[in-house]
Amino acid sequence: MRRFATIIGFVTAVCLVATRLPAETESVNVATGFRLLTEKSYLPGDFDQEAFDNVWQAWPKKLKAKAEKATPEERRAMAYDRYGLTTRPGDDSGRPLQYVVRPDGMWTMNCFSCHGGTVAGQVIPGLPNANFELETLTEEIRLTKLLMKKPLTRMDVGQLAVPLGTNRGLTNAIMFGVGLMAYRDKDLNIVPNRHPPMINHDVDPPPWWNYSRRPRIYIDGYAERGARGLMPFMMVPENGPDQFREWESDFEKIYDYIMSLEPPKYPFEIDEQLAVAGKVAFDANCAECHGTYGDDETYPGRIVPIDKIGTDPVRLTALTPENRKGYGESWFAHYGKQKTIHEPEGYQAPPLNGVWASAPYFHNGAVPTLWDVLNPSKRPDVWRRSSRPFDEENVGLSIDRLEKMPRKLLSKRARRHYFDTNRFGKSNAGHDYPDSLNAEEKRAVLEYLKTL
Ligand code: HEC
Ligand code: HEC
Repeated sequence: MRRFATIIGFVTAVCLVATRLPAETESVNVATGFRLLTEKSYLPGDFDQEAFDNVWQAWPKKLKAKAEKATPEERRAMAYDRYGLTTRPGDDSGRPLQYVVRPDGMWTMNCFSCHGGTVAGQVIPGLPNANFELETLTEEIRLTKLLMKKPLTRMDVGQLAVPLGTNRGLTNAIMFGVGLMAYRDKDLNIVPNRHPPMINHDVDPPPWWNYSRRPRIYIDGYAERGARGLMPFMMVPENGPDQFREWESDFEKIYDYIMSLEPPKYPFEIDEQLAVAGKVAFDANCAECHGTYGDDETYPGRIVPIDKIGTDPVRLTALTPENRKGYGESWFAHYGKQKTIHEPEGYQAPPLNGVWASAPYFHNGAVPTLWDVLNPSKRPDVWRRSSRPFDEENVGLSIDRLEKMPRKLLSKRARRHYFDTNRFGKSNAGHDYPDSLNAEEKRAVLEYLKTL
């Protein structure tokens, strides 16, 4: 407690000095932003430490037997691995990056559950969490709570009404937002449910390090960037309209933190000569949409009509013009002062900085590696996550390519490790632009993409 008070005292002191020094305010805000995300809980707790420590009791037999013999630390590592949680960089407390752990032992999901994870053995806050298994975690925590006779909470019950995510690393996040906004007017007062259509589908979060490069956000570029726009996730009934106004200053610091992030560097070897050749091919074939990198960085932010891009269309239509208008007219978008596009024509070409790290690719995560992005006709229709490390050859997730889904009955959790592109919202089609490159140029562009 004393240490906590000292830190608060220190931060306050620096803030006081910083009011006269704008550049320093920003760097203090960056540190405070990260601290708020990991230490302050903006939502009611999901489960307590005791439930998490016992979640192994809900595991399948073999794994449960292994957990039973393990030490508490080993058990925690097994649980983190199972649900896609990590420890915090530079913090040996063992607490997860993805949850706030309150002094009373309650765990509350934070933004890093989807926006922070591991790539090539490195924990990176701001990296899309390709391993998060919210659905499995929620199912197994609920079972543990029932075994331990603990009360159920929001997520345990909510999951029965809204699917959380059908693949490891992907979530139904867009519909969480639509569902929460259905209970709010433009001032964020709580109103009766307006029953918007719910078209459940999974999406892959984008990396936070490109937020600063992207004045219009989300895959369809419908919203403008801003601190209030970072807050919709908090719209649970417990948080009334005044709570949002009170927390806005916190989110200005979180905004500065997200704006400060830079992409991680490719940690393996790069063939520099091949990458130089790749830049030439990239600038001629890809830059008109994705921009240029290096000393002359540009980002056009082009929105490509859906029939031209040809990637999965569900995300574009599942969020309706009414949904976007409701957001645009609300407190989040400063009552229309920020420009919201109600009917975007398609998807916005994202910046590709750090793209080596953010597999799987496309907004629905249907394509496991950069090699597959570059070879549209060879993308696997069904693939399964493997436990092998980062795929350095194809640059992205290590997977097994399958002809079709196995006939044998799979458990719900095992099924989430298979990506079946035949399912609703899961198409891996489209974005055929790399077909204008020959095989040699594709190899070179793949090498160049590692350098961004
Ligand atoms: C359940 C998973 C999940 C959680 C939790 C979550 N996000 Fe996201 N976030 C997403 C997904 C998925 C997208 C992509 C949506 C799209 O483009 O349509 C996204 C997009 C974003 C973007 C837009 C980035 C860009 O370049 O377009 C920002 C910024 C963002 N989230 C911030 C936050 C903050 C801040 C929090 C916590 C208050 C948070 N998110 C919590 C899943 C999540
Ligand atoms: C006409 C515009 C356009 C051209 C040309 C284009 N792209 Fe794209 N690209 C897009 C759009 C739009 C997306 C987003 C598609 C989606 O997520 O559904 C995208 C997505 C990607 C992604 C996935 C990014 C991610 O984080 O998921 C990669 C990688 C990529 N493009 C590489 C390339 C390369 C390499 C070239 C040149 C051979 C190229 N693109 C040419 C518009 C374009």
